Amino acid sequence: MTQHLIQATHLSKHYALDGGHTVPVLRQMNFAIDAGEFVAIMGPSGSGKSTLMNILGCLDVAADGYYALNGRDTGRMAPDQLADLRNRLIGFVFQGFNLLPRKSVLENVALPLLYAGVGRAERRQRALLLLEQVGLSRHAHHRPNQLSGGQQQRVAIARALVNHPKLILADEPTGNLDTQTSEEIMALFKSLNRTQGITVVLVTHEPDIARHAQRLIHIVDGRIAHDGAVEQVLQALHPT
Ligand SMILES: Nc1ncnc2c1ncn2[C@@H]1O[C@H](COP(=O)(O)OP(=O)(O)OP(=O)(O)O)[C@@H](O)[C@H]1O
Ligand SMILES: [Mg+2]
Repeated sequence: MTQHLIQATHLSKHYALDGGHTVPVLRQMNFAIDAGEFVAIMGPSGSGKSTLMNILGCLDVAADGYYALNGRDTGRMAPDQLADLRNRLIGFVFQGFNLLPRKSVLENVALPLLYAGVGRAERRQRALLLLEQVGLSRHAHHRPNQLSGGQQQRVAIARALVNHPKLILADEPTGNLDTQTSEEIMALFKSLNRTQGITVVLVTHEPDIARHAQRLIHIVDGRIAHDGAVEQVLQALHPT
């Protein structure tokens, strides 16, 4: 049997409201993602995309169902084991970049290595290598607010890559960027996917951003409404 990188079965999540009511946010989701895939996730605001990404990233746990990451059943793992799995396998990229404003670009990229207990010289060397990969060597000693939005997002991508993740989870990574800069960031994700085989799962509201992926999962009201090749799903959403 082949092992999927991500295997979700009957995944469900609800939030408890005051007064004892619960609102379902994810309802019985079933899907698998294999190593090397590039998957876009689209859906209306509030449909559960970020909630799903947080569960896939082991930042949150599902209420019901089964979620295995790299063959490990996350439901059976203790919080520190989950954190360890997350640190070893996953790089996160967010809409708002989430860089530390008082640290240099280099320090921001090296931060996950600090948490992983890597020594200072190696942290610096690896962070510089990643900055070179995203074309920002010359900005290593800048502060994040001295960079453009696209440059800041590239720093965030370098930070996500510094631990050699198998999986990148990106929640609207181009949401704060103009069209041209968004295309540059997508080209970077695509190249990481193609040349290094890194699996990318990316949330977007833009069909043109989703087109950089191979597969599109469309979520409506916490359920998978469509899942297939990007153009087929887009066609199903907006028949021409
Ligand atoms: N901590 C929480 N407590 C209660 N409800 C929550 C909580 N977090 C999210 N929700 C609800 O869960 C639903 C899904 O939220 P989620 O953030 O996953 O949506 P989304 O698809 O990412 O939307 P957007 O496109 O606006 O980012 C929403 O109805 C939201 O109000
Ligand atoms: Mg969201």
